Amino acid sequence: MGAQDDGGEAAASDGAPEVAPRRRGRRLRWLPFPVVLLSLGVVGVVAWRQVAPVVSARKYRDVTYTVPAAPKLTAAGGETVYRIDPTLSSLGYRIGEQFAGKKASTATGVTNGLAGDIALDAKNPNRARVGQVVANVEQFHSDNNLRDARLRQDFLKSHEFPLAHFTVTSIKGLPAALTDGQTYPLTMTGTATIKQTTAPLVWQATASLHNGKLTATATTTTKLSTFKVGPISLAGLVTTSDDVTLTLKLIARDPTKYAIPTHITGPHAKATTGGPSFQAAVMPILERSCASCHNPGQVGSEHWQLSTAGDAAAIADGIKTVTETKYMPPWPASEVGVPLAHRTTLSTAQLDVLSQWAKAGGPLDVATSTPVKPAAEIKALLPRKDVSLYAPTYTGSTSNPNDYRCFVLDPKLTTPMYLTGYSFLAGQIAEIHHVQVFHVTAAQKANAPTVEGKDGKPGWECYGGPGLRGARRKRVPGAPRTAPTGTATRRDVGFAGQPDLVAGWVPGQLPAIYPLHSGILLQPGDALVLQIHYHYDPVATADRSGLALQLDPVSSKVRAMRVVNPLGPVEIPCAPGATAPLCDRNASLAAYEKQFGGSGSGNEAGLLALCNRTPAGLTAGFTGTVARSNCDLVVPEDGTITAVLGHMHTLGKSIRMTLDPGTPQQKVLLDIPNWNFGWQMNYELATPIHVKAGQPLRLDCSWDRSLDPKRPQKYIVFAEGTEDEMCFGTYALIPDHQ
Ligand code: HEC
Repeated sequence: MGAQDDGGEAAASDGAPEVAPRRRGRRLRWLPFPVVLLSLGVVGVVAWRQVAPVVSARKYRDVTYTVPAAPKLTAAGGETVYRIDPTLSSLGYRIGEQFAGKKASTATGVTNGLAGDIALDAKNPNRARVGQVVANVEQFHSDNNLRDARLRQDFLKSHEFPLAHFTVTSIKGLPAALTDGQTYPLTMTGTATIKQTTAPLVWQATASLHNGKLTATATTTTKLSTFKVGPISLAGLVTTSDDVTLTLKLIARDPTKYAIPTHITGPHAKATTGGPSFQAAVMPILERSCASCHNPGQVGSEHWQLSTAGDAAAIADGIKTVTETKYMPPWPASEVGVPLAHRTTLSTAQLDVLSQWAKAGGPLDVATSTPVKPAAEIKALLPRKDVSLYAPTYTGSTSNPNDYRCFVLDPKLTTPMYLTGYSFLAGQIAEIHHVQVFHVTAAQKANAPTVEGKDGKPGWECYGGPGLRGARRKRVPGAPRTAPTGTATRRDVGFAGQPDLVAGWVPGQLPAIYPLHSGILLQPGDALVLQIHYHYDPVATADRSGLALQLDPVSSKVRAMRVVNPLGPVEIPCAPGATAPLCDRNASLAAYEKQFGGSGSGNEAGLLALCNRTPAGLTAGFTGTVARSNCDLVVPEDGTITAVLGHMHTLGKSIRMTLDPGTPQQKVLLDIPNWNFGWQMNYELATPIHVKAGQPLRLDCSWDRSLDPKRPQKYIVFAEGTEDEMCFGTYALIPDHQ
């Protein structure tokens, strides 16, 4: 099973599709594809970048329900000072919200941490003075402690800026004389300072004085953006409107006659009793379904870190929300397709346990410091880290916000080994958009110094792929070089594999073991090239990322696998009637040509030809929202499909890969009805499927413009850019022929 090289073909064609030699020359002319096959996960500037810092349980618990201090007024002749009673007063917000996939609704929250004085002369009420009102916004609480934690931490930054200040500069509607018990409508004009921004506010209010008790309610509408605290948008979890309504409900009394409380009780002082046992019922779910992603350093720990029982208790009702909405654990594939392995969806019984536990207030029957670690059966799914290789520390530049950088990772093998699993070792996640790993030969590696460090920085710029000259590795040793029989008219045969692309990391991916003891054969001298797509916004931070390899010696137990890439064209016109210049398909293609060079519009032309589709055919019936495309392909060689993946950018709506479509033996390999850019998972088939060369395989994709209505209009085709789209699948195939 020795590796052979590609017969010297490789020099200039790195990244070109693997084709049957008979047809290669011709295909390359009409498929000038230096990038397409390499673009697994070359994705739009997305949600991933908007992620907020980890919800720290410690900070969350640190909220203390104290009453802030406000400047005190001194009663002038005839005046009485009324002081806000925090136990009877509140500041509330109302905001339009879409939370964790639930229907749009209104979120409300209140804080009782309020202080302030009003000075009033009952004989001259129109000279009333309102002192500064101070509110502790850190104490805002709603019906969901995850929302509260997010609001505090990401938007109000309330640990740094806990107090909001309200001043009133003029009051309209005050009567000349006051009648006890009568309610007066008022308009109060003033300012508010929230976080670090001061802006004017106008409150509509009512007020009355009765038996020494001053009661007032004031409402104002403003925008979160005015105070630079929103609109709130957290990938997949919550988005809010910009408009917010604030309501002050005040009861104030004369502090010389009444003791005004200076302490309030927070909502979490409520008893936590009953509910299922954390240790026996809740913890096993967290260990099986959450810990592998939320333990420190893992993919979800950037958002919510789960190290201990206390971390779970701190957001108990957040856990209920994210699980009952099926937002967590993430699993976008539907059940339409063939059964998939390691399905993470929680059962109704498990959802019920989490819900009952949250309703009981998240009680713990273990110490808060009890560690929550992945269950043994989950750990068994993780690859070993036999060798960890790191790229040099690299800092890009914001002048090149989409930075594709390649680094050689040399395992320095002395004997042939199979790469059978890998973990991406992220130096930082915030600026890493995606990662691809290419397998390069000793000859290619030897050419790396010709490109490395040319701009004075480690690695080299590599837009499409490593682009290293030198003979490439053949896809799978011993694979036949001729097209499968009976498929001579199918142009896709050769267009189904990127032998060099062996691994990747896109949002949502976990460390992987290639299924069924398969792997990528690495010869002594071979190396891997790590291609990282950095996206800098607004800064470029230093990064040192790497890859941990699981390596197994060559034996009859391990078989070589290849990654096959079914693709389809993309034709997404502008909404009907849109007049932007790039809505014209030709103008848009010309712009692609400019942006991406030779491959710009050639990609799309090639795909249309490959799939025998036309722009007119694909866009017939397009009404401005959902665009569809598909491609009928064939399996390139006899083998076993073990895993599948779909890839689109952020307008993606659905993707489906079907074997033998429209026949009685049809099998849907993958069906993602609601594409989620954040969750591009590699799905392992529960039962691998044996396929024959030439067996039909169809890829269906759809996109929805309404997912991003604000996006500048242009005619979108298949390309790597942020605002472009893809119809892209991969499957792992273990060829029989080895
Ligand atoms: C495959 C990895 C993975 C698994 C499994 C997983 N999560 Fe997550 N989780 C994430 C990632 C990544 C995010 C951030 C998602 C985003 O930004 O869209 C997240 C977000 C969250 C959030 C929102 C935090 C915030 O405020 O932004 C909560 C809460 C959460 N997960 C809880 C859970 C629970 C509970 C489980 C188990 C039942 C679970 N997760 C399983 C990866 C995972």
